[in-house]
Amino acid sequence: MQWQAVADYQDLSEVGATLIYNAIVANDCKRFNLGLATGNTMISLYSLLAEKLNHNRIPLDKLHTYNLDEYVDGGCAVPEDHLLSYRRYMRENLFCRFDAGLGFGEDNIHFPNPADPERFDRELAEAGGLDFQLLGIGFNGHIAFNEPEDASKVSVEAFADRPSRVIELTALTLETNARLTAGGDHGIVPHHAVTMGMKPILAAREILLLACFSEQQKPLQIMRNGSPTPQLPASYLLGHANATVIYTADKINLE
Ligand code: GLP
Repeated sequence: MQWQAVADYQDLSEVGATLIYNAIVANDCKRFNLGLATGNTMISLYSLLAEKLNHNRIPLDKLHTYNLDEYVDGGCAVPEDHLLSYRRYMRENLFCRFDAGLGFGEDNIHFPNPADPERFDRELAEAGGLDFQLLGIGFNGHIAFNEPEDASKVSVEAFADRPSRVIELTALTLETNARLTAGGDHGIVPHHAVTMGMKPILAAREILLLACFSEQQKPLQIMRNGSPTPQLPASYLLGHANATVIYTADKINLE
C-alpha cells in the first residue's frame, strides 16, 4: 500500500480525477467496473472527471459504476428526493455531467439493493469484479458504511469476508453526517444503510482512498502505525496489493 501527500483539496481532486480517467482510458474498449463513493471529498473530483471524459470524447458505454452505499428507511432505499439520497448525489455530481452522446445510461449504474444486497455481490462477481474502487474514509475509519466492529467479537479474516448488507449506523456516523450533509438536522439522517461489503471492496484490482478533513488524521495515523483490524475498516487496505491513500497536507499531518 502506498501513501501520498498532496498540497490541498484542489490538488487532491485533480490527482484523483486523473488517476481514474487514465484507468478508464487504459482499459480501452473493454468493460470497466468502477466503484464509486459519495461524500464531500469527491465533489470536485467528479466535476473534473466528467470534464476530462467529455473533452476527450471518451466512449462510456462500457463503463459500469457500482456505488458503495445508500441510506435505508423502513427497509427501502431512500427515494431520490430525500435530502441525503446518494443516487441523487451521483446524478447531480457525476452522471448528469456526462455528455449524452458518450453512451452512459441507466443500465450502466448499479447500487446495492437493501431487499437483496447479496445479489449485488453476485452480479458484480459475474461481471468480473471491480477494476477500480474509489473510497473516502469516515471519521471512525469506516469505508463505505462498513462500520468498525469489536475485534474481540469478530476475527480479522471474518470481517474481511463481510458481504454487502444492511447495517445500523453508529452514533458517530449519524452525528457526523447530520453535521456535514444535513445542515445539523439529526432527524433527517436514516439510522440504517445498505453498504457494499468488505469482500467486494477488497477484491477490487486497484483501490484509491482520498482524505481531506482534519478529523480523518486520527484514523489514518492509527492505520499507518497498525495492521488490519475490524476496529478500523480502512486498515484493511494495508494488506491490499494495489491500494493508495492520498491525503491533503494542509489538513492532515501523518508521521
Ligand atoms: C459517508 C460514506 C462514506 C464516505 C464518508 C466520508 O459516511 N458512507 O463512503 O467515505 O461519508 O464522506 P466525506 O467525503 O463527506 O468525508
